[in-house]
Amino acid sequence: MIHLKGKTFLVTGASSGIGLALCEQLLTHDANVLGVTRRPNAVHPDVSPIKADLTSREETTAIFHRLGKIDGLVNCAGIAYLSRVIDGNPADWEEMWRVNVLALSLCCQLSLNHFPKTGGRIVNVSSMSGHRVPPSGGFYAPTKFAVRAITDSLRSELKAIQSPIQVACVSPGFVDTPLLENYFRGREDTLSKTRAGMKMLQPEDVAHCIMTILTAPVHVEIGDILLRSADQLA
Ligand SMILES: NC(=O)c1ccc[n+]([C@@H]2O[C@H](COP(=O)([O-])OP(=O)(O)OC[C@H]3O[C@@H](n4cnc5c(N)ncnc54)[C@H](OP(=O)(O)O)[C@@H]3O)[C@@H](O)[C@H]2O)c1
Repeated sequence: MIHLKGKTFLVTGASSGIGLALCEQLLTHDANVLGVTRRPNAVHPDVSPIKADLTSREETTAIFHRLGKIDGLVNCAGIAYLSRVIDGNPADWEEMWRVNVLALSLCCQLSLNHFPKTGGRIVNVSSMSGHRVPPSGGFYAPTKFAVRAITDSLRSELKAIQSPIQVACVSPGFVDTPLLENYFRGREDTLSKTRAGMKMLQPEDVAHCIMTILTAPVHVEIGDILLRSADQLA
């Protein structure tokens, strides 16, 4: 049994899907959990909600104004619109870029002063769409490639200053969460076929991988985890 009593974790996207499942697993191990969301009523009752819209730089920055020490930051918040490069709505691109990339990067930067001197861990959630661009990847896939690149930049920069803060990236394939309804909006038949054709990853499966990173011995740095349903082709 892992004990996280006395440890504090900040989780974005705490109200749904992977973030919600992660909060539940952290709470099972007695951690203090702070959850960022636009919908404070939607987080687990034992999570301390922090209300912020991550499309806003001011609101993202304000998360850290009142924050004490944290032992881990997990950036789960994300948006996936099916928005093609040839004719997608630039407003969708902008929202995805702000939440998936800019807010994630700002949270990484602003969290650094909140870790104890002994260090801690940052986990960013990318996607298999950050490793290869599926035909429907549109503007979403580039945001997930960026998450991987930012994670690598941050890791190198922290090592260069001998920081004990470790950085990891988790890249899931399809996970059965509300995000898919956005991604397949207007193509509900494709979503039904995708669901029928595979036993999809559950949010708990991804949360379990994140827990493995967060609770690894200090001398073990897990940099990247890629996971997909055993039924997913690529
Ligand atoms: N589901 C998949 O198939 C899949 C696959 C690969 C990677 N991922 C990645 O996994 C991460 C989690 O996705 P999920 O599947 O768990 O999605 P989800 O169930 O739709 O949850 C998305 C979360 O992001 C938060 N969020 C979105 N926009 C926000 C904003 N403007 N301000 C604050 N919070 C915002 C939502 O919080 P509120 O609405 O409460 O604010 C919600 O908690 C994302 O980064 C996603 O790209 C998902």
